[in-house]
Order: sequence, then C-alpha cells, then structure tokens
Amino acid sequence: MIKQQATEDSDIRIKILTLLENRPGQFMSGEQIGRILGVSRSAVWKHINHLKKSGYCILSVPNKGYCIAERSYIYNGYELAKRLTTPAHIVFLDTTDSTNITAKKMAAQGCEPGTTVVALEQTGGKGRLGRQWQSAAGKGIFLSYILRPTFSIDKIGLITLAGSCAVCEVLKEKGFEAGIKWPNDILIKGKKVCGILTETSFEETRIEYAIVGIGLNVSQSKEDFGPELINTATSLEMESLKKVNMTEMAAALLDKLHEYFAFLEEDKGDEIISRWKSYSVTLGRTIFTTVNGKKESVTALDIRQDGALTVRKQDGTVLDIISGEILFT
Ligand code: BTN
Repeated sequence: MIKQQATEDSDIRIKILTLLENRPGQFMSGEQIGRILGVSRSAVWKHINHLKKSGYCILSVPNKGYCIAERSYIYNGYELAKRLTTPAHIVFLDTTDSTNITAKKMAAQGCEPGTTVVALEQTGGKGRLGRQWQSAAGKGIFLSYILRPTFSIDKIGLITLAGSCAVCEVLKEKGFEAGIKWPNDILIKGKKVCGILTETSFEETRIEYAIVGIGLNVSQSKEDFGPELINTATSLEMESLKKVNMTEMAAALLDKLHEYFAFLEEDKGDEIISRWKSYSVTLGRTIFTTVNGKKESVTALDIRQDGALTVRKQDGTVLDIISGEILFT
C-alpha cells in the first residue's frame, strides 16, 4: 500500500516535471497543473517542494506559478530514461545492498531482458574474487544489466568482453584515455576506474540469465580510496579535473551496453573480439600471473573467443588462462 502510494507520487512528480520542461521559461499555476493532472493545488505544491529538495531548480512566484529555471543535472531514473536513445526498463534505487543481488532476484522472477538496476549507493557492493566494491552514495555509477541470452553457452565468455568494450568505448568517446586490462578492468593511465562482475544462472545446458554488474568510479577523490587502493584506483573526476555529469555518463553507458549485447545476439562475436583487442592494454605485454599455484612472468599473446587469455611462458610453452587476475610488471 505504502509502496503503491510512493509509485503514484513519483508518477505525478514526473508528470509535473514533463509539463514544466515542455514550457521552458513559462510559468504554470498550481491550479492549471492540478487541473491537468487531476490533483489539488496543495498536492501540486507538496510535489513541487519534493522536487526542489531533490535538486530541481523550480521557481515559485506568487500569482504566476511555477517554472523550471534551468536545465537540471540530477541523477535519477527519470533523468536517465529521458537521455536514452534506446528505451530500456530502468529500476533506479536510492540504496541497495548490491545491484547484482537485486538484479538476480528480478531475473529469477522473470523480468524482461535489458532491465537494468541502477543504485545511487550500495551497502554491500561485490567485486570479483570475493572482494568488496566501494559504493558510496553518488560517487560512482553502480548498475546491473540483465541478459537472457539466446546464444549458445560456449559464447558465455563474450558477455564480459562485450561489457568491457562498451565501457571502454564510452569513456574514449568522452575523451578519456581508457584501455582494458584482462579480464575486464578498465584502466585510465594504468589505474583502475571501472570493474565488471558478471554472474550467470544456468538451466540445464543453456544460460537462463546473466547479470553484468558495472562499477564506474566517477567523483571519488584520492582520500575516498583509502591506503590499499590509493595507488591503483582512480575516478573520472580525478583524471579530468572536471565535474562529470553522472546522468549523461550512465545513459551513454546503457545505450552502448545495449548495442554490444545486440552484437552477441546477432552472432557478431568476431566484432567484439576485434574491438576488445583494439582497446586492450594487455596484449603484447609481459605480465605476472599464477600458473599452477606459482607466480610467473609471461607474455600476453592473444584473447580467445571464450575470453581466455593466451600467454607464452619464459620456457616457450603457450597456455590459456581461463580466469583469475594478472599484474603488470
Ligand atoms: C571488480 O572487482 O573489478 C568488479 C566490480 C563490480 C562492481 C559492480 S558495482 C555494480 C554491481 N553490483 C555489485 O555488487 N557489483 C557490481
């Protein structure tokens, strides 16, 4: 009941915003808005106050009414959906434990493919290899994209490659010198700015759903990372020294993910691999990895269709690393 009221309130607020945004620079009275939306003047006043508190710059002038004063840069589900070129179902949460966990629950309940869970904050953000992912409110983009692949299970490795290509390409388009470190870290000038955690559920021999969880550091400062990450992590604002519009960045990312995941469904795995290689900062380098429990220095040669990294050991043996982590020398 409470949830339904909250949804109705949020629908009315979106309608009020749409009315005001469609008349830039013009005033609309509370009575006029109320009449169009079938609510009282005092309800309009209450919703306008809520919108102002959320950061929208709305002018209220006695005897004239309300007017959106300037383009508002606010990060919420409505602003995000407005900027998408490909419509998608977005579930935008102020807070959640982990968008991957929420997305998994939604996928198990049968939600549409392409549904994306976005959160302002995660209280239990998950990283790869059982690590935590720092997810303080408003500091980064935390999202999980739900896929229901119709392609065969042997292409599963391409999902994460597609995700990392999408992030890297968006960052490059926005002017960042981004590159991919195997398997799916996005680096800027050698420091990690984004990580991807893909989780999959299987039904016999097919993929029931896959959740691609992306954490992109946006406005953290050095102090936010703490001693263990200070030398290895970065954020977009640390790199650009400029404010980054989270809404535009997240919308560009969602559009690009949509484009790359369509490649997968269209059987364009070769395209993904070739773009991944062109964005890679791994191939051709000497790296450290663990082979049979022993840390070794090897040369990264190539990437396989399933995402495995082909390396050459110092004794000349060539082998494939299926999962894990590499370190640059
Ligand atoms: C990594 O360790 O590199 C992967 C980090 C993935 C973090 C993202 S944030 C959104 C999504 N929800 C999570 O709990 N994790 C992923």
